[in-house]
Amino acid sequence: MVAEELELHSLDDVGPATRQKLTEAGILTILDLVVRGPSEISDVVGVDINRAAELCNKARTKLVEMERLDRDFVPASEIYTKRMAIDRISTGSTNLDELLGGGVETQAVTEFYGEFGSGKTQICHTMCVTVQLGKEAGGLESSAIYLDTENTFRPERIYSIAESRGLDPHKALQRITVAKAYNSAHQEIITGELGNVVEKEKTKLIIIDSAVAHYRAEFLGRATLSERQQRLNKFMHLILRTAETYNTAVVVTNQIQSAPDVLFGDPSKPTGGNVVAHTSTYRISLRKAGKNRIARMVDSPCHAEREMVFMLGQRGIDNPSEETATKRE
Ligand SMILES: Nc1ncnc2c1ncn2[C@@H]1O[C@H](COP(=O)(O)OP(=O)(O)OP(=O)(O)O)[C@@H](O)[C@H]1O
Ligand SMILES: [Mg+2]
Repeated sequence: MVAEELELHSLDDVGPATRQKLTEAGILTILDLVVRGPSEISDVVGVDINRAAELCNKARTKLVEMERLDRDFVPASEIYTKRMAIDRISTGSTNLDELLGGGVETQAVTEFYGEFGSGKTQICHTMCVTVQLGKEAGGLESSAIYLDTENTFRPERIYSIAESRGLDPHKALQRITVAKAYNSAHQEIITGELGNVVEKEKTKLIIIDSAVAHYRAEFLGRATLSERQQRLNKFMHLILRTAETYNTAVVVTNQIQSAPDVLFGDPSKPTGGNVVAHTSTYRISLRKAGKNRIARMVDSPCHAEREMVFMLGQRGIDNPSEETATKRE
């Protein structure tokens, strides 16, 4: 159940008819109003954009009063204090965590991109387990939501990662909510509903594996490129607002196609190009190096661009075995 003060009727402006339209679109709380934003609210309710913006702003003001959101103007010192309070989730490898400055951050979108088999899905599985661990072990004693778009979520993998990390595998599985998205429109609907699950389960980690696969499959060729970029842009902003509003970490994956069969753009660049890149807070490229994997922090506002080595094993993501463990600067 959502807290009473977050319910839509706590805003005077939301009458029964408006509330019904919002509810039918999965917008159940004033947090959802802020996350979805004016243009979507205008479509859903059938009011002009100014009216929708007014509604979203009132929701925002109320959340600021409730100290659920920042005020518009804040001293940098306050932002610093807040950033110091950001939670971090271990990837399972201390090398990879170090590259990320201590793990994957809440209130941010972290993108892992690389070719097939580079370990993106393994990172996603491992983090669904590590987020459940105690703080001393790199977790947040929390749960995870896994949005699976490629049908690659494997509960048996969770089972063995949890077991090898000292958790009860059955309990670990119970703390992961899985949603399968069958196409990009479905993926967007599910994403719009994430807030309610996060609020209910107090989830600290949202995984989207992969963020772009459906868009890539559905929008082929140059003719549909701008529509694809527009939809992806909207999707990426929705997840970023979700991460910020709910103080949750969002991890997205993005496959690079190494084969030169892409119809547009540079084949070595991740799909979604600028759209995904500009919206992700942190971007890590992954590549294979024999049995190991090399992660590289790309374009971070606050990390040096360097590389670290990790490996994929029984425990999911791990540091490489002694003889191959080399840090790369
Ligand atoms: N139980 C396991 N023990 C050790 N390594 C494993 C195990 N399961 C999977 N792997 C490794 O993980 C690799 C697959 O990685 P993963 O599925 O994460 O790739 P990906 O980057 O998600 O690829 P794609 O782009 O195709 O989705 C396998 O090639 C294998 O090396
Ligand atoms: Mg994968």
